[in-house]
Amino acid sequence: MANTLGIIKPDAVRRKLVGKVIERIERDDLILRGAKVVHLTRERAEQFYSVHQDKPFYRSLVDFMTSGPVVALVIGGHNAIDRWRTLMGNTDPAKAKYHTIRREYGTSIEKNVVHGSDSPQTAMSEVAFFFSDEEILPKD
Ligand code: RTP
Ligand code: MG
Repeated sequence: MANTLGIIKPDAVRRKLVGKVIERIERDDLILRGAKVVHLTRERAEQFYSVHQDKPFYRSLVDFMTSGPVVALVIGGHNAIDRWRTLMGNTDPAKAKYHTIRREYGTSIEKNVVHGSDSPQTAMSEVAFFFSDEEILPKD
């Protein structure tokens, strides 16, 4: 029943897709336990994506993720980590299954609308990166 971190990325905020993404979360019976609008600084974005620092796309990714505000979400519910990744779809929207968020709204492998933690360990550290305990609704 671990929470996971979702991010609605700058491309989606710019295109006014925040409501659409949250609608998909609610429709899937995932639980919204936290939400905030944040404009990441370069330092914070570099820290968040430090696992990718040696990848060719790192610099561009940091540029993109600091290009405008994002919406950070704490998403809960049974199997939330896997279910949110499934709902997002493949990193590359062109390869993502039909009806996934990235397939429907993504425009490139980089501008793919949403982020989701990929394991219980990263979920815990990524939620803590954006939210203090008091900002997260308790599990009932
Ligand atoms: P995310 O971390 O955002 O949930 O996505 P992911 O696990 O599916 O993808 P990951 O491999 O962790 O990459 C993080 C983000 O970097 C951008 N990216 N660009 N140009 C490229 O080849 C490339 N590959 C990845 C995407 O924004 C991806 O979500
Ligand atoms: Mg990832």
